[in-house]
Amino acid sequence: MQFRQRVYNFSPGPAMLPLPVMKQVQEELLNWRGMGASIIEISHRSKEFEAVLDETEALLRELMRIPNNYKVVFVSGGGQMQFSVVPLNLIALKPARKALFAQSGNFSQRARDEAKKYGTVLDVASSEDTRFDRIPQVPPAAELPRDASFFLITTNNTIMGTQWHTFPDTGEIPLVGDATSELLSREIDVTKFGLVFAGAQKNLGPAGFSVDIVREDLLGKQLPDTPKLLNLAQLASERSLTSTPNTFAIYVVNLVLHWLKEQGGVKAIQKVNEQKAALIYAVLDASKFYKGYALKESRSNMNVTFNLPTPALVETFCADALKAGLYALKGHRYKGGIRASIYNAMPLEGAQALVQFMKEFERTHG
Ligand SMILES: Cc1ncc(COP(=O)(O)O)c(C=O)c1O
Repeated sequence: MQFRQRVYNFSPGPAMLPLPVMKQVQEELLNWRGMGASIIEISHRSKEFEAVLDETEALLRELMRIPNNYKVVFVSGGGQMQFSVVPLNLIALKPARKALFAQSGNFSQRARDEAKKYGTVLDVASSEDTRFDRIPQVPPAAELPRDASFFLITTNNTIMGTQWHTFPDTGEIPLVGDATSELLSREIDVTKFGLVFAGAQKNLGPAGFSVDIVREDLLGKQLPDTPKLLNLAQLASERSLTSTPNTFAIYVVNLVLHWLKEQGGVKAIQKVNEQKAALIYAVLDASKFYKGYALKESRSNMNVTFNLPTPALVETFCADALKAGLYALKGHRYKGGIRASIYNAMPLEGAQALVQFMKEFERTHG
């Protein structure tokens, strides 16, 4: 199928980026601000690129209200690279080299399995017995092992369509958040976390690149064999310029952050995100045809997951949706069904178009 216009792109990631950002990239690609060269063709140590880098960090700090005792580090490699970065940098914070996990989906499992290479891992909560249809209940802080170095949660579960709406109290144990599929989509209190990271390919920019926000006092205790380019203390002290960073990604993230600021910032986009999700969940709640996957109190505002009565109807739904300009609605292979990813760049009109399509599909196939 060929389209003349851009579709409403519900891809889970890499995901759609704001149209004004894509247009600006296109316009500036050959000649950035009159330099006669592209931003991706100049040195990462040029004053022009360094200004983009510094501005990107400043914008992120402003938009997320990141306190001064947190470092912002740009790491090459995506979300799963941080499954190594986190234990390499944090597991030696305590001699027991123990890491705690709440299992809420595939990515928390992968994070745990990677951390196992560097120490002891312990699942202190899990919703695997109900196929991750909810956020698991975490024991009170007093019951968590005191010799743990960190406690990792996946704040938004991209595949399952669940999201932590309140973060667990882990007491003195630093909480680590994998916010890959939600960073900047809602206001979060960074001080609740020792470290928050996000692969960029949902709300920030191109894939293969991550942002790590880490409390300063946790840095410097990395394992001795930590690769230089995954050493957060070193990256932080060298402003993420330890090697040539992904200059294109940083440039695109910069434009996305400018766009977000123009939208009114995180608080404003959160409102729109809640509106979009509410529209789709309202259709699910009113229907006997569609069946939502996540329990109501665990529902994600970024990834809405649901099923239809038969796999054949799922196929027809996706094929017909595509004809209507609604792209990439097929759910992850782990759980089948439909997944609508509605990150920051998805306009309200996209959610409205999906809702209209869903109602019509139910009318004709229900
Ligand atoms: C929550 C979460 N964590 C980690 C990842 C892995 O990111 P990457 O593919 O960039 O390694 C993803 C990818 O979708 C994700 O959704």
